[in-house]
Amino acid sequence: MIKNTLLKAVEAGAQELRHFFNGSFTIASKGSLNDLVTEADHASEKAIFNVIQAAHPDHFILSEETGEIKQDSNYKWIIDPIDGTINFAHGIPICCVSIGIEKDGEMILGAVYNPFMNEMFFAEKGMGATLNDKKIQVSKEENILKSCLVTGFPYQYLDSANGPLQVFEKLIRKAVPVRRLGSAALDLCWTAAGRFDGFYEHKLQAWDSAAGYLMVEEAGGKVTDLKGDKYNPYQPGIIATNGKIHNALQSIVNGGAI
Ligand code: IPD
Ligand code: CA
Ligand code: CA
Repeated sequence: MIKNTLLKAVEAGAQELRHFFNGSFTIASKGSLNDLVTEADHASEKAIFNVIQAAHPDHFILSEETGEIKQDSNYKWIIDPIDGTINFAHGIPICCVSIGIEKDGEMILGAVYNPFMNEMFFAEKGMGATLNDKKIQVSKEENILKSCLVTGFPYQYLDSANGPLQVFEKLIRKAVPVRRLGSAALDLCWTAAGRFDGFYEHKLQAWDSAAGYLMVEEAGGKVTDLKGDKYNPYQPGIIATNGKIHNALQSIVNGGAI
């Protein structure tokens, strides 16, 4: 029942993405200049809320553009109505709707849907992860030097030791391919599907990673914070890998040599 509502909710959000994509829509900036929100983000969020609230009016909701709709509930829906908004605003079809569901503080379900590639990623705690209903698994690469990685950069540059540029520099100096898709949720799903061997990012919000991190875990991968501790989506850093390159990537992210 809750799974069906989740799938209906991502589809309802995605319909709004299809509707506005490459058309005309208003764009506003939040906080910093390129931290955007479009009319489509709001429309997607509204469509998602309608589905959830019709089925589960008593569930807690945390969503990027609205914040918290607090309820005294065991269930919490964590929603990114468009992950990859800059891509969306530029007509780049690498963006998605991402929704994770926590029960009693544990992520139990996640769905990430990119309607432009017709790719629906779904994960259920303990039951594995799928792409368009087919099981997915992380890659088997063991050598970080032969890995294909992905990362993202925050809207406001983090000027700190071992920040995004330092880690990126270290990897590309060794000619390790590091992609930058512009959607953390898809970065995680593509890692779950074995397209990437690992993903790291310094500053995410819970709605960016909620569904995607469960996807990686359920596809057999490993997800931690930057220090290697158990991942918690309410803190900023993430390392998500096939498990085999995890220690190597974690060491590099923390200033170690490659
Ligand atoms: C962003 C994307 C991007 C990541 C940023 C996020 P948004 O989310 O996930 O890949 O690098 O940190 O904020 O703004 O497109 O929902
Ligand atoms: Ca996001
Ligand atoms: Ca977003």
